[in-house]
Amino acid sequence: MKRSIQSINALEILDSRGFPTIRVRVALEDGSIGTASIPSGASTGANEATELRDDDASRYQGKGVLTAVQNVNVEIAAALVGRLATEQGVIDATLIELDSTQNKSRLGANAILGVSQAVARAAAQSCDLPLYAYLGGVGAVHLPVPMMNVLNGGKHADSSLDFQEFMIMPKGAPTFAESLRYGAETFQALKKILHDKGLSTAVGDEGGFAPQLDGGNEQACELIVAAIERAGYRPSEDIAIALDPAASSFFEDGKYRLTRSGQGEKTSDEMIALFADWVKRYPIVSIEDGLAEDDWAGFARMTEQMGQQIQIVGDDILVTNPKFIARGIQEKTCNAALIKLNQIGTVTETVAGIHLCRQAGWGFVISHRSGETEDAFMADFAVAMGGGQIKTGSMCRSERIAKYNRLLEIEAELAGSARFGV
Ligand code: PGA
Ligand code: ZN
Repeated sequence: MKRSIQSINALEILDSRGFPTIRVRVALEDGSIGTASIPSGASTGANEATELRDDDASRYQGKGVLTAVQNVNVEIAAALVGRLATEQGVIDATLIELDSTQNKSRLGANAILGVSQAVARAAAQSCDLPLYAYLGGVGAVHLPVPMMNVLNGGKHADSSLDFQEFMIMPKGAPTFAESLRYGAETFQALKKILHDKGLSTAVGDEGGFAPQLDGGNEQACELIVAAIERAGYRPSEDIAIALDPAASSFFEDGKYRLTRSGQGEKTSDEMIALFADWVKRYPIVSIEDGLAEDDWAGFARMTEQMGQQIQIVGDDILVTNPKFIARGIQEKTCNAALIKLNQIGTVTETVAGIHLCRQAGWGFVISHRSGETEDAFMADFAVAMGGGQIKTGSMCRSERIAKYNRLLEIEAELAGSARFGV
């Protein structure tokens, strides 16, 4: 049959940090081709699906992915050649069954997701549809609101910031293209402000600036507000702030340790109090991983106290896993989920997680990883899933901009039917 899989091949390539990752190429009988390159995180959640690395110290500090490549080329190819590429659910179920572990540790979530995404792309090409329309149908017309990570700290930069991500969210823009312009202009204004203060304008892993600030984590919020104003926008109405402290990365022995900024040690409740104070002082609309991944009780308290006012997003605590998202909904842990395809490892399971969010009235944010490639699958995926929000880095570095540029293309292609907003 013309839409059946003819061949599957994988290749070891490099990501934006210069570490190996996997690229998969799927060819169908009708000549359609789909490729997918898989990203990689640095501040990963403990319960994420396993990214299979070779652990061979003689290559790439043990980070090679030749075993995952081999798993695709031999075992996965043998199981899937001849199957219909348009049956995404069957393909993904076959991959899960073949792997047969809870966390995809045998074949590797990187190998499995590479195949899952490449099959979707090949099927879309075979149906002569753009990926967002293939995955989302005719109703996929909603562009996501971007969260742009303009100041980088934590595990993504050697800056003085304990908190990993300070993002701007141009929520008042009328279109996606305009939101990008608002964001890019604010990014350039921030660069000028840092430069004029004699601070570094070098960037971190996600393209945000990574300066050494004397004024602790707060100063990052102050600089962003100043940049929004300098670019000619209104803080809050036009452009708001979103944070991802990635608190698991500074949680040690039962305390949140703000050592880089010298802001001391804090309990969960002291962290919540700090965020509540910031929300009063700065135009913050969303906080992701304000607390650590095991702090389910703290998360629920934070959501109870602040969830009416702002979005509380679970990343490391939920790891895009429908099982944890269901628990989060039950326990009112947050009111939104971060969605990373490679945290769970197949397209089908990721969609299932998003469905749970929708049913619960939760928000969702489709997210890149700090180690990325030029692959813009997630841009199409965000539109296919009905928009919401997207987090894909700052306003520089092509592995980030590739996703924004793809969204510009989609918005232009949808023309009059395109919609924008959370
Ligand atoms: P990571 O960070 O890709 O390094 O895990 C992203 C995030 O924490 O949202
Ligand atoms: Zn995060």
